[in-house]
Amino acid sequence: MKTRITELFGIEHPIIQGGMHYVGFAELAAAVSNAGGLGIITGLTQKTPELLAREIARCRDMTDRPFGVNLTFLPTVSSPDYPGYIRAIIEGGVKAVETAGNNPQQWLPLLKEHGVKVIHKCTSVRHALKAEAIGCDAVSVDGFECGGHPGEDDVPNFILLPRAAETLKIPFVASGGMADGRSLVAALALGAEGMNMGTRFIATQEAPVHEHVKQAIVAASELDTRLVMRPLRNTERVLTNAAVERLLAKERQLGASLKFEDIIDEVAGVYPRIMQTGDMDAGAWSCGMVAGLIHDIPTVKALIDRIMAEAEALITQRLAGLVR
Ligand SMILES: Cc1cc2nc3c(=O)[nH]c(=O)nc-3n(C[C@H](O)[C@H](O)[C@H](O)COP(=O)(O)O)c2cc1C
Repeated sequence: MKTRITELFGIEHPIIQGGMHYVGFAELAAAVSNAGGLGIITGLTQKTPELLAREIARCRDMTDRPFGVNLTFLPTVSSPDYPGYIRAIIEGGVKAVETAGNNPQQWLPLLKEHGVKVIHKCTSVRHALKAEAIGCDAVSVDGFECGGHPGEDDVPNFILLPRAAETLKIPFVASGGMADGRSLVAALALGAEGMNMGTRFIATQEAPVHEHVKQAIVAASELDTRLVMRPLRNTERVLTNAAVERLLAKERQLGASLKFEDIIDEVAGVYPRIMQTGDMDAGAWSCGMVAGLIHDIPTVKALIDRIMAEAEALITQRLAGLVR
């Protein structure tokens, strides 16, 4: 399938694997790229730029296809070594970067100078327009359904995507709630040029996370995610567990006086414990409502091949048949 996104990134299928903390290691990124999508290494999961450089080299050993790196710009005071991470990306010959969080404007000239294409993830049309104005090559439009940070506007993809389509000139992919061929065809119909998936890619053979995490996603329904940290305007969609329910009880009890320190036990240092140790009650970890559509743990290639076959059949048979 050819779209503006496959052309932009030089990939076979319009499917991107979004950056995911403690999930987006070289193994998953390479598997997605080898299957014809765009795999993404999560930059900040690598604690230093040197470690990111090593992860990029490992990925390059596993695939000769294009892959990218996610750079999440955190709203924290003590900022990670972003110049160092960007140097690792450029020197590693990576040609695609998924940015997220704060405005990436200050890093764009350097990335562009080295031929790196930038796709910025945003949860609103106004942020997507801003990304277009500052020179991003594409955007990933992340609806309210998404795992991770859906922003504070709560606009689901059935509205957000067509709004993006009527507003943007640069190409965009649909992100949040995407799982299968139906998602891809719907995304294309709403004006997107492809889709970005997070949660779906965790429940795959190659995702380098504990088996408990994959089983938890398969077991979960669309009713099992919760929104945490809304009082801090840092809303995150996570899978419910004992720690998440404890966190929500604190939010109810403390109301507007809630501070980050009050919930630090439920949110700090959680990812390695969940993803690597499989300690499923360790704290809050991102997961999308799309868990309700995930019923198996296929290889990445089987998943992507199935999505493309399903999408093609939907377009050429079911939909074409309706207008014949
Ligand atoms: C476990 C997990 C960790 C994530 N970590 C990040 C991250 O570090 N940076 C980022 O930009 N997005 C992150 N995301 C968001 C994904 O890249 C993607 O936008 C989102 O999962 C899409 O929604 P979906 O889960 O419904 O497919 C994460 C998502 C999950 C599920």
